[in-house]
Amino acid sequence: MKILLDTARERMKGFCSLCQVCDGRACAGKMPGMGGAITGSSFTANSHALADIRLNMRVVHECIDPDTHFEFFGSSLATPIMNGPMAGPNSNCGPIDDLEFEVALLKGTTQAGSLGWIGDPAREEFFMNGCKAIEEAGTGVVISKPHYDNANVRLRFQWGKDAGATAFGMDLDGAGILHLKTLGYPVGPKSVQALKIIRSFMPSNPFIIKGIMTADDALRCRDAGVDCIVVSNHGGRVLDGTPGVAEVLPEIAKAVGNDMVILADGAVRSGVDVLKYLALGAKAVLVGRPLCWGVYGGSAEGVKLIIDTYTEQLKQAMILTGCKDLSDINSRILFGF
Ligand SMILES: Cc1cc2nc3c(=O)[nH]c(=O)nc-3n(C[C@H](O)[C@H](O)[C@H](O)COP(=O)(O)O)c2cc1C
Repeated sequence: MKILLDTARERMKGFCSLCQVCDGRACAGKMPGMGGAITGSSFTANSHALADIRLNMRVVHECIDPDTHFEFFGSSLATPIMNGPMAGPNSNCGPIDDLEFEVALLKGTTQAGSLGWIGDPAREEFFMNGCKAIEEAGTGVVISKPHYDNANVRLRFQWGKDAGATAFGMDLDGAGILHLKTLGYPVGPKSVQALKIIRSFMPSNPFIIKGIMTADDALRCRDAGVDCIVVSNHGGRVLDGTPGVAEVLPEIAKAVGNDMVILADGAVRSGVDVLKYLALGAKAVLVGRPLCWGVYGGSAEGVKLIIDTYTEQLKQAMILTGCKDLSDINSRILFGF
């Protein structure tokens, strides 16, 4: 792991310092780059909200070999840790061939027994690189941006499906990207009616909305026929001044119940952070920036190493909190809840 991080630090020089504590302070406002928007407070809030949560250690029980298997819409995954969709590595992370980045990210995630997600860069040829990565991995999830007209969204879903994608969605938190609006893109929030139409493009596949931070928005997604939401502030990269994901997740999980699958992301930097999000109500998590370190430090093997390491840490933490499998993780393991 040390060699991986040293190599990544060298290759990401000027973009990411791979800080001891990756909480968005050193890279505040560095966008394009690895930071959070404006002051970086939303990135930092993700990190601090997770750090504030403490776990009840439990050692008198029978859970000695916890099971981390996760069922995601018919895919049986070895771990509840997937990669966050990430586009634009050259402007955000450091020089690299775009196709090489996407292939390494999805290949490493798949080799760790998980499922790879692709994001949506502005340029079509880069989107196609994500599709090629899905093709190589054999499966994947497509997250389109909310700034195209519906014909273009449908086209992107179809390209993804042709490549082998099994789930489709949109990072709706991209609705505030003003420079795209000034370029003439129809960027903006979506009504329930508009989401119902987008949902109908792939009627027999799961439909995911990423970037939900309130219970109210979550319930509107449910009304639109959404199958899965990602509670996320885009790693703090869209709106400055949001709470941390761990602060809003319990209320959203309570409102949604079992009506949709809830995922969460933001500042996951260990398997203990994964356990915390699961105990707060998520079924699985996405990891962003650390998997860029994986790609730059060790290609697909680097990504696999990081997911494997977090999964091992999750197992260890499940043993020490007395959770035999993922369904056994709930708020009873959280101190003070
Ligand atoms: C370089 C970079 C590019 C990203 N590109 C996308 C994208 O294209 N689509 C998307 O939904 N999210 C994108 N994200 C957000 C991630 O999917 C994820 O929500 C976030 O990074 C999680 O926070 P973390 O990096 O602290 O783990 C990007 C994040 C980074 C760091």
